[in-house]
Amino acid sequence: MLYIGIDLGTSAVKLLLMDSEGKILKIVSKEYPLFFPNPGWSEQKPEDWYEKSIEGIGELLEGQDKSKVAGISFGGQMHGLVMLDANDNVIRPAILWNDGRTGEETDYLNNVIGKEKLSQLTANIAFPGFTAPKILWVKKNEPDNFAKIAKIMLPKDYLAYKLSGSFCTDVSDASGMLLFDVKNRKWSEEMCEICGITTSQLAKVYESYEKVGTVKPEIASKLGIPESTIVAAGAGDNAAAAVGTGTVGDGACNISLGTSGTVFISSKSFGVDKFNALHSFDHADGTYHLMGCMLSAASCNKWWMDEIIGTKDYAKEQEPITEDKLGENHVFFLPYLMGERSPHNNPNARGTFIGMTMDNTRADMTQAVLEGVAFGLRDSIEVARSLGVAPERTKICGGGAKSPLWQKIIANVMNMKVDILEVEEGPSLGGAMLAAVACGEYASVEEIASKIVKVKKTVEPDPELVAKYEEKYRVFKELYPACKPLYDKIVGK
Ligand code: XUL
Repeated sequence: MLYIGIDLGTSAVKLLLMDSEGKILKIVSKEYPLFFPNPGWSEQKPEDWYEKSIEGIGELLEGQDKSKVAGISFGGQMHGLVMLDANDNVIRPAILWNDGRTGEETDYLNNVIGKEKLSQLTANIAFPGFTAPKILWVKKNEPDNFAKIAKIMLPKDYLAYKLSGSFCTDVSDASGMLLFDVKNRKWSEEMCEICGITTSQLAKVYESYEKVGTVKPEIASKLGIPESTIVAAGAGDNAAAAVGTGTVGDGACNISLGTSGTVFISSKSFGVDKFNALHSFDHADGTYHLMGCMLSAASCNKWWMDEIIGTKDYAKEQEPITEDKLGENHVFFLPYLMGERSPHNNPNARGTFIGMTMDNTRADMTQAVLEGVAFGLRDSIEVARSLGVAPERTKICGGGAKSPLWQKIIANVMNMKVDILEVEEGPSLGGAMLAAVACGEYASVEEIASKIVKVKKTVEPDPELVAKYEEKYRVFKELYPACKPLYDKIVGK
C-alpha cells in the first residue's frame, strides 16, 4: 500500500510518498507566497495551500501505481487562524504562527484573564502567535469578518476539509490554539466564551492517527486514487516531525531547525512548568509533550545568506568555519528577526549582531548566526533541565539539520548527543506514518516509529568545546535583557 504525507510548511508544501515498509518513493515540494502586510505581520492564502497541494499530489503520483494509495495525512504549520464563512469561503488570509500583531490581545489574556487561569484551562499561557489572541484581534479590528465566522480551523485542517469534507482537527494542533484543554483532550468552553466564540465554530477533535473520512469522490477521480483513500487527522508539524524522527514514548527529544526552531520532548504523563515557559501540548502518539519554539531558526540563516550576503550556496559559506573556529567567535547574533516566543514571549525583540571588530570576516558573521540559533534553542533546553527533564540525546530535523557544521554546533552548545537519521524528512514522513496507522497497517505510532526510523550516526559533544560554548552561552544570556529596553524603543512601544 502507499501513503501520502503532506507537510504544510511556511515557505512550501512538501509531499512524500511512502510504501508499507516505510520506504520513501518520492518527494515533491511546491512553494507559495508569504505576505508581510505590516512589520511583524505574517499571512498566507489557504487557497494557495490547497492549490499547490493538489498540484503536488498529482506530480507525486506520476508514474506510480495510484490504485495502491490507501491513506493521506498531514503535518501542518501550527496556530494559524483560518476562518470560513457559512458558504465555506475563506474570509481573509490566514494569520500565521509567526505573526506578532496581537501584543495587546496577548497582554489582555495573560494579565486580565490571568496566566494562572489560562494555564488551568489550557495548560498554556498566551503567546502572540497562538490562535486565541488572533481571534480577539479579528473581533476588535475586523468586526465584519468576525461576524461572518462559521468555521475556525488550523492550516492543515483546511486541507483535510477540502479533501474529505470532514471538519476536523487533531489533539496536537488543537493544543496550540489556547482554546483546548490539553490535559483532558477536549475544547475548553470557558476559553471559547472568553474569545467570543462557541464550540460549534470549532472542529471535531481526533487523535492524530485516527481516520477522519475518505477523499471526496471528485477529488479521487481527479487524482486517480481510490475513493476509499483514508484521510487521517494528522498533527501539528512539530508533533508530526517527532513521529517522523521516532521521538515518541517518554523523554525522547527532537530539535527542528526549520523556519522556526523547536525543542520537543515527549512525555507519557501530563506536565506544565511553573512559568509556562515551555508549551505543554498533546502528542500525536496519544501522549503529551513539552516544547520550546523560536520563531526564526533556519530562516535566520536563509535571511543572512539570501538577503544579506546574496548567495544560494550555503555550504560554501560554511567552509571557512573550520573546527578550530568553534567556540572562539566573539561575534554574537540574537536571532529575533520575527520577535521571539520561547522563552522571552516578546514580539518586539529584534535581530541583533554584537561584538564585531575590524578583523571580523563574513564567515564569523555566518558562524554567529548558526551559533545564535543554537543558543536560542539552549534557552528552551535550560527550562526543561530546570524541571528535571534532561534528555541526554536528541534527534534533529528540518532544513538546517542537513549542515554537519550546525549539527556539531548544536551538539556542543547543548552538550547533547545528536542522532542523525537515515531518513530525515520530519513532518512529511510523520504525516505518512500517521496515515499508515490510521489505515491499520501498523497498530500504533510507537510501533511504526520503532520499525522504520533508523539512526545513521551520532554527533558526540566534545568536552573541551562544550566548556568553551558554556562560557559563550553565559554571555549570550546577558544580551537579551540588555537589549530589551532598546527593542521597545526601536519598535516604538
Ligand atoms: C510551534 C510553531 C512553529 C510552527 C512552524 O509552536 O509555532 O513551529 O508550527 O510551522
